[in-house]
Amino acid sequence: MLTEPRRRFFLGNWKMNLTVHEARALGAELRSESMRLDSAAIRDRDVIVAPPLLAIPGVVHELMGSHIRVAGQNMYWEDKGPYTGEVSATMLREIGVTHVLIGHSERRDQFSESDQIVNRKLRAALRHELSAVLCVGEHSDDRDTGRVVEVVLHQIQSGFDGIDRNDLDKVVVAYEPVWAVGTGRTARAQDVELVHGAIRSALADRFGREAARTVRIIYGGSLTPANAAPFLSQPDIDGAIVGAASLKAESFMKILEMDIALRARSPVSRGGGG
Ligand code: PGA
Repeated sequence: MLTEPRRRFFLGNWKMNLTVHEARALGAELRSESMRLDSAAIRDRDVIVAPPLLAIPGVVHELMGSHIRVAGQNMYWEDKGPYTGEVSATMLREIGVTHVLIGHSERRDQFSESDQIVNRKLRAALRHELSAVLCVGEHSDDRDTGRVVEVVLHQIQSGFDGIDRNDLDKVVVAYEPVWAVGTGRTARAQDVELVHGAIRSALADRFGREAARTVRIIYGGSLTPANAAPFLSQPDIDGAIVGAASLKAESFMKILEMDIALRARSPVSRGGGG
């Protein structure tokens, strides 16, 4: 049976880099680069950047009228109140944010975000109609002890706890092995493909095969234009989170161009469902 391919999804995570001015300039450059690319191919994809919080309004402004949208890198689950230093989903929406990263490995590891916190944030994002990118991934010792799938599926189960099937279309899952994020080391594309398959099966068990089939599952971890092709060619890898290589318009756009070329050459029609 021929099924609709999943819409490709690319997110540039700028992390805590660039000044407000530099971020704005990068936004402007991305806008003009994206105009240069086949606009239908860009329109057919979700292309998103996640600047540092303070830079968001300027970047939103620069990207107006383009197909690139803006994500928050993090948020708090309450709407308002005595939570010094935090930002709510409502506040993000007010400044033009459409997506938010939830449970990035740097948040989990360096800011002690537990599975329960991640789940609260995901629920709050969806309640406020932000699309969410739920990040999961194992540490290197999990990998060494053969526990990759077990660890990742545990994060999936707890991350999606209490999430309604009707909200599933607003969630993208990002599989990012912790040892590959920001390290220059990438996983092997075929190993990633297997983990994505396991995630999709778990989602099928939880939400039903049809719903799980449509969820985008993307890869992240030291992707560059030089190493992205094998990942983007896998049938169950629906896009990417790009960190360091998204800080230059040229390299982020090269990854997108590569995806456009690969998919034009061999459009993959995917049944999904594990
Ligand atoms: P990296 O970051 O590409 O620099 O490894 C990936 C990420 O933050 O998701």
